[in-house]
Amino acid sequence: MSRQLFLYALCGSQRQASTSRRLLEALRRACPEGITIEICDLIGDLPIFNPDDEGERTPAIVEQFAAQLQRADGLIVSCPEYAHGIPGGFKNALDWLVSRDEVPFKPLMFAHASHRGDLVLEQLTEVLQTMSLRVVEPAFLRVPIAGKSDEAQAAILLDASESGALQASLGRFAEAIRAEP
Ligand SMILES: Cc1cc2nc3c(=O)[nH]c(=O)nc-3n(C[C@H](O)[C@H](O)[C@H](O)COP(=O)(O)O)c2cc1C
Repeated sequence: MSRQLFLYALCGSQRQASTSRRLLEALRRACPEGITIEICDLIGDLPIFNPDDEGERTPAIVEQFAAQLQRADGLIVSCPEYAHGIPGGFKNALDWLVSRDEVPFKPLMFAHASHRGDLVLEQLTEVLQTMSLRVVEPAFLRVPIAGKSDEAQAAILLDASESGALQASLGRFAEAIRAEP
């Protein structure tokens, strides 16, 4: 039997009606057996990164965030593009991890909720690879719900689930994780 996988999902938007988050929630609901997904709720509460506050001075919430990342077999990132770049709050969360040892070599998949935003994908890939994360490209998922009405979003996500597209991406991601030495 293949081992149970725990995936930690990071959302780059703090918006209440975030489409990035909605996509992560659809993935969580569509999770095949053997995989569980938890969506991180800590990113909006992290203080602004300051290297003076690392080591013994690391804030408790950063340690909590890092502990969940440590536990995770893989990460899912769903992040909008802001002004052709990475939203500041999300980059702040990543900055807290740069000098720590939880994320290097951790597998990661992108779940992208927009038909646009290719620049943020490029920039995130550069940043995450610089942090030694392993982006699993075959698992990349794009479900373009950004800018659509609530009903249209629901219909597109239902179709993505019923067609098996969500499960297929998760399956490719799980396969890549399980194939690791
Ligand atoms: C401040 C701001 C800047 C944005 N800049 C871009 C951009 O440069 N390129 C783009 O494709 N979309 C841009 N957008 C649109 C967002 O990517 C889009 O609204 C997306 O749905 C937001 O993600 P969310 O629904 O998860 O909050 C911007 C939105 C905001 C609020």
